[in-house]
Amino acid sequence: MTDARPAPSSRRAAGVLVTGASGTIGRAVVDALVEAGEPVVAGMRDPRAWIADGARRASGISAGGASRTSGGAAAGSGFGGSGASGVGGRAGGGRPESSGPGRPLGKPSRAPNQKPLQNPTRKPGTTVGPAATAANGRPGALPAAGHPGQTVASALPAGAQAATVRAFDFADRGTWASALAGVDRVFLVLPPTVGEVGRTLIPFIDTAMESGVRQIVFLSQQGVPLQARSPQHDVERYLKRTRTPYTVLRPNVVLQSLSSTYRDDIRRRREIALPAAAAHVAFVDARDVARVAARVLGESGHLRKSYALSGEQALGYTQVAELLGEVLDRPIRYTPTTDADFEQRLAGLGASPTEIARQASLFRSVRLRALRLPNRSIRRLTGRPATTVRRFIEDHRDSWL
Ligand SMILES: NC(=O)c1ccc[n+]([C@@H]2O[C@H](COP(=O)([O-])OP(=O)(O)OC[C@H]3O[C@@H](n4cnc5c(N)ncnc54)[C@H](OP(=O)(O)O)[C@@H]3O)[C@@H](O)[C@H]2O)c1
Repeated sequence: MTDARPAPSSRRAAGVLVTGASGTIGRAVVDALVEAGEPVVAGMRDPRAWIADGARRASGISAGGASRTSGGAAAGSGFGGSGASGVGGRAGGGRPESSGPGRPLGKPSRAPNQKPLQNPTRKPGTTVGPAATAANGRPGALPAAGHPGQTVASALPAGAQAATVRAFDFADRGTWASALAGVDRVFLVLPPTVGEVGRTLIPFIDTAMESGVRQIVFLSQQGVPLQARSPQHDVERYLKRTRTPYTVLRPNVVLQSLSSTYRDDIRRRREIALPAAAAHVAFVDARDVARVAARVLGESGHLRKSYALSGEQALGYTQVAELLGEVLDRPIRYTPTTDADFEQRLAGLGASPTEIARQASLFRSVRLRALRLPNRSIRRLTGRPATTVRRFIEDHRDSWL
C-alpha cells in the first residue's frame, strides 16, 4: 500500500490524538506537534487533575481553582466545535479563543522531568481549562497567571495552535470515540501499567480505523522484534497483520528516566542504582523521539515503516554518573544492583507488577547488550543529530539540584 496522503499543508484540518499525553514521551510528542503547527488532542485519564496539578505548580493557583472550568463533556464533536474539543487560542491572533466548557489547553503543564500523577482518579466528563506549560523546557513558557480557562498562547510559537485535552482511558471504551472525534492520526502509547493489549490497544486500533484514522504511529521499543512475548510485539504484529497504516517507532532507553524515575536517587543519594551491570546503552532523548514522531505524522512516506531510534553514542551508567557529577559539580556514583533488589525497590515505590516486569525485562535487554548500538536515525529523520547525554544533563541540570 502506498502512502498517498496529501502534503502536510493541505491536511491541517484534522488532528492527531496523542495517547499517554501526560507521560514522558507522549508529553514531548504533544509539544513537538504543537510546535509543528498540528492540531493536537492530548489524551489522558484524568485531565482535570493534570491541569490542576500543572496550574498549581506553574502559577500557584489551587487545584480547586482550575476545576472551576468543569461542567462540560470531556470530549466534544471535533476541532473548533462547541464541546470540549475546540482548538483555539492561536498565538499571533489566529483562530479566536473558544469559550464555554472545554476550552483548549495551552500545552501540557507538567515540567518535562516530572512523572505523571500517581494513580489519578479519572473523572469521566471532566472539562479542562488550560494551564501553563513548561513541557518544552523553554524559559518563559510559563504564563504570568494561571487563570482557569485561559489559553496560554504566549507559550506557543507563532502560528501554533493550543492542544486540547480529552479524557482517554484504554480501560474505558466509553472514552474512545469522543477522544477520536475530529482526529485522523494517532500517536499510540502502551502505558507501562497496561498488560492486556488484547482488551485494550488492539480493540482501540480497530475503533480508530473505523472512525477514519489514516495513520497510527505506535511507540514500541528497541529490541521488540526479538521479544516475541512482549505486549509491544503483539501490537506490532497486529498492526502488520491487519494492514493498518502504521509507523512503528522503537526508541532506545530514554534519558528522561534520569530526571524522573531516578531523579531522587541522584539528588538525595548521589547514586544511580540499576541492574545494568557494565553494559552500554545508546540512550535517546524523548524530545528527539518526539521530533521524529512529529515528522512521520506530518509528512508522507512513513507508512508501514519501523524505525529504531538510538542516540549517536553508547555509554555505560558509570560514564553517565561521571557526566552527571561533572555537570552538577558533585560526585555521583553508579551502583550495579541485582534484579531482586531493583524489583523490591520498585515495589517499595508503588510500581505495579506489570511495571516491575517491564522494567526487569528492559534491564535484561540492557545486560544482554541488546541496546548498545548507536545509530543515526534521528539525524536522518529530522535533519538534526541526536541530543548527547551531556547536553541532556546540562539542559535538565535543575532537576537534580
Ligand atoms: N521510558 C523509556 O525509556 C522507553 C523507551 C522506549 C520505549 N518506551 C515505551 O514507552 C511506553 C511508555 O511511555 P512513557 O515512557 O512515556 O511512560 P510514562 O511516562 O509512564 O507514561 C505512561 C502514560 O500512559 C498513561 N496511561 C496509564 N494508564 C492508562 C490507561 N489505562 N489508558 C490510557 N492511558 C494510560 C499515563 O497517563 P495517565 O496516568 O495520566 O492517564 C501516562 O501518560 C512503553 O510502552 C515503552 O515501551 C519507553
